[in-house]
Amino acid sequence: QTADFSSFLEENFQGIRVVKAYDRETQAVQQGDSVIEDRFKIQFKALRIEASSGPIVETLAGFLIAGVIFYGASNVIEGETTPGTFFAFITAIMLAYQPIKSVAKLFPRMQTGLAAAQRIFTLMDIKHKVVDKPDAAPLEFHRGEVEFKNVNFAYHPDEVVLKDISLRLGAGKRIALVGPSGGGKSTILNLIPRFYDVNGGDILVDGQSIRDVTIASLRQKIALVSQDVFLFDDTIRANIAYGRDDVSDDEIIEVAKSAAVHDFVSALPKGYDTLVGSHGVRLSGGQKQRISIARAMLKDAPILLLDEATSALDTESERKIQVALKHLMKGRTSLVIAHRLSTILDADVINVVVAGEIVESGPHDQLLKKEGVYADLYNHQFSIDSSVTPFREVRS
Ligand SMILES: Nc1ncnc2c1ncn2[C@@H]1O[C@H](COP(=O)(O)OP(=O)(O)O)[C@@H](O)[C@H]1O
Ligand SMILES: [Mg+2]
Repeated sequence: QTADFSSFLEENFQGIRVVKAYDRETQAVQQGDSVIEDRFKIQFKALRIEASSGPIVETLAGFLIAGVIFYGASNVIEGETTPGTFFAFITAIMLAYQPIKSVAKLFPRMQTGLAAAQRIFTLMDIKHKVVDKPDAAPLEFHRGEVEFKNVNFAYHPDEVVLKDISLRLGAGKRIALVGPSGGGKSTILNLIPRFYDVNGGDILVDGQSIRDVTIASLRQKIALVSQDVFLFDDTIRANIAYGRDDVSDDEIIEVAKSAAVHDFVSALPKGYDTLVGSHGVRLSGGQKQRISIARAMLKDAPILLLDEATSALDTESERKIQVALKHLMKGRTSLVIAHRLSTILDADVINVVVAGEIVESGPHDQLLKKEGVYADLYNHQFSIDSSVTPFREVRS
């Protein structure tokens, strides 16, 4: 019940704007009432048991002592025991009384403790699905070539998310994934750092299956900007430097400038020491995204994974960051998921992912000539979104 109560509070405080915007305050209050009521009932029951244990023990002890005095006194009167032995015995009973009372009190507390322990152990007993093989060796990194070989994947047994994906990310090349949402782009990207294991086929980095190498050595080579930005409740500096203990302020400022973070941070009274709040509530979506890009830049890893990394930015900041990102991607193997085609027109290979399959693949010009899914996406996006720069300008 305590866990239910905390998750209710966390959810409603996090989602307070949604609650207000959809006018669900009354319902939230009712739900809160019932959660609190449930917890109150259980807490009250526990307290009642705990409190009643005192009087019960007290009463029993009273009868016991009366009995002992009666029995002992009659023995003394009849001359079967000496008064000394009798008083020694009474004293011993008095001394034992307090500890017995404590034991009685212990019981309800132990029950609460055991319930909590049970929950904790259930969590601790969850087996990691993705683990190092016993004989896993560190990844021997050469050039950073990544290859998907007939990869099949599903989050749950009876569904198919990726079907027979074969994909080659040449060392130092820029590969893009485009396609309708829900198609499986993020899933493809998340398989590279082994957040999940494939169900069929294999993923190789420089010829080694990622399941044969140690997870730490693999992830060390990968910088990721994920679709859902996550910031820790800490300073901006700590969020940028996350994962690196050895960075100087100069390095942080340098990446912050590239990721268009420096400008807005300098304007804050506390600068890089500003606390971002839980989940970064004190920053705008675009600012959070830029911090997460700075974090990835600072990691300086040879494989770069960008999942709609600039989707929350206005066209102006996006253009600035695109320059920095292009610079960053030079010489690194990059897999980029694009929300706006204008950002990936000059990728080495563009893959169109639809319903878990790669349906088209090739450079922009070639795909456009095919007049297939990609050409449709392209024409559609450029006809409805007039704010997007025509691709010739982007490429120059
Ligand atoms: N953690 C998850 N658990 C279960 N299903 C998921 C999870 N993440 C994504 N999916 C499902 O996998 C499919 C592909 O999702 P995703 O890779 O996020 O698509 P895209 O990035 O192309 O929008 C969707 O049908 C989605 O519902
Ligand atoms: Mg996605």
